[in-house]
Amino acid sequence: MYLCRIIDNNFVMAKDIVCSGIRPTGNLHLGNYFGALRNFVRMQEEMDCYFFIADYHSLTTHPTPGSIYNDARAILVQYLAAGLDPEKATIYLQSDLPETIELYLFFNMNAYLGELERVTSFKDKVRQNPNNVNAGLLTYPTLMAADILIHKATRVPVGKDQEQHLEMTRTFAQRFNNMYHSEVFPLPQAIGSSTGLVKIPALNGSGKMGKSEGEASTIFLTDEPSVIRKKIMKAKSDSGPTEMNQQKPEEIENLFSLLKAVSSPDTVEYFDDLYNRCQIRYGDLKKQLAEDMVNFVEPLRQRILEIGADDAALRRIMDLGKEKAHDSAARTLAEVRRVIGYRN
Ligand code: TRP
Repeated sequence: MYLCRIIDNNFVMAKDIVCSGIRPTGNLHLGNYFGALRNFVRMQEEMDCYFFIADYHSLTTHPTPGSIYNDARAILVQYLAAGLDPEKATIYLQSDLPETIELYLFFNMNAYLGELERVTSFKDKVRQNPNNVNAGLLTYPTLMAADILIHKATRVPVGKDQEQHLEMTRTFAQRFNNMYHSEVFPLPQAIGSSTGLVKIPALNGSGKMGKSEGEASTIFLTDEPSVIRKKIMKAKSDSGPTEMNQQKPEEIENLFSLLKAVSSPDTVEYFDDLYNRCQIRYGDLKKQLAEDMVNFVEPLRQRILEIGADDAALRRIMDLGKEKAHDSAARTLAEVRRVIGYRN
């Protein structure tokens, strides 16, 4: 079967192929780190991984971004600083793999207006920006399917907000296979984001940390210690528990979630105990959280500065990623062109 190969007379599952992308729309934050990056770093040890920066997708919402290369470069630097290894994983810029676009074209030929118009992210974007309903926005899901299927990826680590896109990727893959009586594409599945993920809430009391909650509620991997301290000291809290062992309101639960992410279990227990005895002082908790946060982020920030300063090394890394991604893409495209009936 497709996913099996024989090694020493034992059936062994072939390595999963993992693919994920991120749009270069701003610096990475703690939510990206715990929700995605940290897992990417683990996955690169065991699986065949393709991690790319979706700088074509940027044009769907930012048609004239100007700094597109610098934005993509900044994400690459942050990927590397977090521990992604260009030798182990294939790390590349989407725009360095134009083969993706040929596959995008083939998927577009069998993607229907009705199904594209029904996509939630499309409807949201139309509402937010009614003057820029471009065809690229409409076909965002076919481009994403091409990103994934150009490497025949089987696993896609993405958050809940991407489930619908991934479902469409399966639809396009299946439709292509049926259309050309082939088994070219696997039907990729999300990698459950439920396992071992630390919740990273925003600092404003509700919601998860991310760009939509605003700068002040978000801790970026590029934040300086003084900025981190300021943000945390201003984080939302309340006037304190009034009863022993009282359930924590959301904003307090959130402070504890952050503490769990970056502090030692002892520290978490210490403040939890104070809370339960109604003796907690949020100022103390925040000070501790700020210090532990600085200790967590500062080494990352230093690595970002270091890696970002070496332009020649970065270009070599981009070239290597481009070459590795191309090898994989060329294989898939040759097969795709053959089953459709083009000359190879
Ligand atoms: N749509 C994804 C997001 O906004 C980014 C993305 C583009 C992606 N292509 C992808 C994610 C392929 C995973 C696989 O987060």
